[in-house]
Parts: sequence; structure tokens; C-alpha cells
Amino acid sequence: MKRRPARRAHDRSDRPNPDPYGERMPEAMNRTSVAVANARLIAQDIKQLDLTPTDGRALPPVEPGAHLDLWLPNGQVRQYSIVARREDGASYRIAVLRDPNSRGGSAYVVETVEDGQVLGISAPRNHFALDEGADDYVLIAGGIGVTPLIPMARRLSERGKPFAFHYLSRSRERAAFLDVLQAKPLNRHLGLHFDDAQGRPDLAKMIGPPRTGRRIYVCGPSGLIDAVLDAAREWPSDAVRFERFTRDAAEPGAGAAFEVELTRSGQVVSVGPEETILDALDKAGVAVESVCKEGICGSCMVPMLSGEADHRDSVQTEAEQQANDYICVCVSRAISPRLVLDL
Ligand code: FES
Repeated sequence: MKRRPARRAHDRSDRPNPDPYGERMPEAMNRTSVAVANARLIAQDIKQLDLTPTDGRALPPVEPGAHLDLWLPNGQVRQYSIVARREDGASYRIAVLRDPNSRGGSAYVVETVEDGQVLGISAPRNHFALDEGADDYVLIAGGIGVTPLIPMARRLSERGKPFAFHYLSRSRERAAFLDVLQAKPLNRHLGLHFDDAQGRPDLAKMIGPPRTGRRIYVCGPSGLIDAVLDAAREWPSDAVRFERFTRDAAEPGAGAAFEVELTRSGQVVSVGPEETILDALDKAGVAVESVCKEGICGSCMVPMLSGEADHRDSVQTEAEQQANDYICVCVSRAISPRLVLDL
């Protein structure tokens, strides 16, 4: 029987996403003020930024696969993977691809952001964590999807784990961080594939036949991820982990009306067919942290005590969603008439 691979999904996009907190944001979400340094184009349409706290404090350590929220002066918030943290915690490095459909986020960063500019960042969050207990690994990066996989490759190299790193790009000019990838110690794991010179990549060959103990991590455009999932359809259910960089947003709206019960206050809040749980809670005076409002950042996840949710987020795995322990209240709804939340 063919098994559908379970995925650890985390989808991010360059969609407009107004700052929901305005001036209240810094205290509400521990936004750190950072100054930009080393802002430069490192490939076609890709800009690298180093982000240094303006108060001189060290930034916290990060695990491979983590991302941060970046607040831009135009009021928009975007999520970007952390490529590296300087050893002394003085800065995080990110890289931003200008999305041709950008409505201000990535285009603003690539075209406008420069050294010395002050931006805001969140603490790191990680929905694309590396399982360090596997026997070996295949990392597949498409385009700017290389950013979370570089720290994974570094970690695997430090741990002496066997792995292959396939970096797929439309052309050499569009490939970022080649200097890092083609230098020791990552160079001996690296396979480069440029579509303009080599045509379509053979993904089935890259991942090999199903193998217990192997993990496949893939990050990049939806087409690549779907193709890898298709190539890995015979693999064990927990073998493929992925993170998308573009997506269709989860549909937060429509559905039947239901109720949410808040155990800490005893309140029962009605959620109408056209509103989100997040909106209904807000109307009832219950504040829940939220950043993306698209089910992709995980900031609005709330513990669930009972009820059955209609999960529409891209943060939790299928198994996590089935467990019904948490719900992303910005997009998810209820199947049962009432959800009981630990709020
Ligand atoms: S606000 Fe981002 S997942 Fe809900």
C-alpha cells in the first residue's frame, strides 16, 4: 500500500501582513531593535543582511531551521530563516529573495534596506527542526530555500552524520551562499543543479529507495516540495520534513458557527460562520499573540483541552493536528460544536 509521507510543514510567504500591534508591539512581543550591516546582493535578486541588536546585547542561540519575524518600517512583518548566528551572539544573518509578486515585503528589503537602518526582529522560532537522531540525511534546497538548510548541514557536519546536500537553482547567478557551500566542510556533501544547464533534476535518484533511518529535508518553492513528496510516496511516514517559501494562504474564513470555552475565565465565546476564533476572542477582550494570521508562523497556537478542531494551519504535522492538543486560532475552526481552550 502506498503511504502518504507525513510532513513537518511550515509554509511562509511574502504576502502583505500588516503589523497587528502597531506601537504596542515592542512590549507585547519582545521585539528586538536591530541595526542592519553587510547588506549586499549575494545572488540575483537575493540580498543578505546581518542584524545586530542596537542595545549591544547578545542574541540567543538558534537551532537549525529556526526563523525570525522581521518588522519593516513600512509596517509589514515577514518571516525569514536564520542562516547563521555569529558565535558571540552579535548578529543573525538572513537572506531575502525579491518575490516577483511582492507587494512590499521582500521587494522593500532587496531594493531599499541598507546598512545602518534599524528594523525589529522577534525571538527565533522553529517549526522546521532537525531530527538529529536519524542515521543519514538528504537535504534538498530549491532557490532561497537554502537558508534553513545551511545551518542543518553545518550541524550534521559537526556531528559527523552522513548527509548529501542538493542545491537546486534556476541558474548559477541565482544561487546564494555558493562560497559557503563550496568551501570546507560542506563542499564534500554538495551536489549543485542548475536548471538552465542541466534541465529537470532527478529527485528520485537524489533521495534513493525507501530506507529506514534516513530523513529527507526539503525547502523551497511549492512545486519542488510537491515533486519531492511525490518521489518519496513509498517512504516511511515520518521520513520527509519540508518548509515551503511560497504558498496559498490558509482560508481563515467560512464555516459553521461554534463556541469556544475558555477554562481560565469561564467565558464562552461564539464564533460566527464568517469570523476567525482569533477575531471572536479579540471582540470578547481576550488577547492572543498573532503575527502572520495565515496559519504559518505558530505564534497564535493555544492549548486545547477538548473538542475536535478543523485544523487549517501549516505549522503542525498531521499527527500533531490529529492529537488536537493545540490549535492555531487565526485560521483553524471547529468540527465539534464547542472547543475548550486553556485560556
Ligand atoms: S498568527 Fe501565525 S499561525 Fe496564527
